Amino acid sequence: MTPPVKVLLLGALVLSAAQASLQIPPHEEVARMARFVVNRCDWASMATISTHEPVKGQPFSNAFSISDGPPGNGTGTPYLYLTHMEISVQDLQVNPQASMSVSLAQTPICKHKGYDPQSPLCAHIILSGSVQDVNGTEEADLAKKSLFSRHPEMIDWPVDHSWFFAKMNITQVWVLDYFGGVKMVSPEDYYKATPY
Ligand SMILES: *[C@@H]1O[C@H](CO)[C@@H](O)[C@H](O)[C@H]1NC(C)=O
Ligand SMILES: *[C@@H]1O[C@H](CO)[C@@H](O)[C@H](O)[C@H]1NC(C)=O
Ligand SMILES: *[C@@H]1O[C@H](CO)[C@@H](O)[C@H](O)[C@H]1NC(C)=O
Repeated sequence: MTPPVKVLLLGALVLSAAQASLQIPPHEEVARMARFVVNRCDWASMATISTHEPVKGQPFSNAFSISDGPPGNGTGTPYLYLTHMEISVQDLQVNPQASMSVSLAQTPICKHKGYDPQSPLCAHIILSGSVQDVNGTEEADLAKKSLFSRHPEMIDWPVDHSWFFAKMNITQVWVLDYFGGVKMVSPEDYYKATPY
C-alpha cells in the first residue's frame, strides 16, 4: 500500500468515527433510533382520551414540550411540565393512559433531506404508556434540569398555574423508520440502548 492511500484510508476512518458519534443511528438498530428521536426532539404530539364534550371518549391529540435530558445525553424518559388548567391534563386526571408521537420531521435531519413527515425515511416513533406526576419526588430535580435547559421560557411561566413535573411511563415503543413496516421495541430494550 502506498503512503497516500494509507493517509486517505486513515482520514476516512477518522471521519466516519466522528460522524458515527453525532449522526443518526443505522436503521437496523431500532431501539437506538427510538432513543435518538426522543433525544433530538423538543416536542411531542400527545393523545389522551378526551373527557370534554362534544368529543368525550375520543382520542384527543395536543402538542407538548418534552425533554429527556441535554442533547447527546438523554435518559430516554420524556419529561413534561404540566398544569391541571390544561385541557389534556384534565383528561389524564381521569385516565393517565396516553400515546406520544415524536418525529424527526421537527429537526433539520428530515428538512434538509427533503423527507416528507409521513415518509418512512423521516424516522418517527410512538410511545405508549401513561403520564405520571413526579412532582415532589427525587426525579423532579432531573425533570426540571432536563426541561428548563431545553425550554428556558418555562422558568417564567405564570406561578398561579400550579405547574408540576411529570413523565411518560413507557409501556411500548413503536418505531416507524425505513421500510418494512412498524417495529416494536420493549421498554427494556429501549432503556438499554445508547442513542449516540
Ligand atoms: C450525562 O448525564 C449523566 C447523568 O444523567 C452525567 O452523570 C454525565 O456526566 C453526563 N455526561 C455528559 C457527557 O454530559
Ligand atoms: C410541585 O412541586 C413544587 C416544588 O416542590 C411545588 O412548589 C409546586 O407547588 C408543586 N406543584 C403542584 C401542582 O403541586
Ligand atoms: C408504569 O406502567 C406499568 C404498566 O402499565 C405499570 O405496571 C406501572 O405501575 C407504571 N408505573 C408507575 C410508577 O405508574
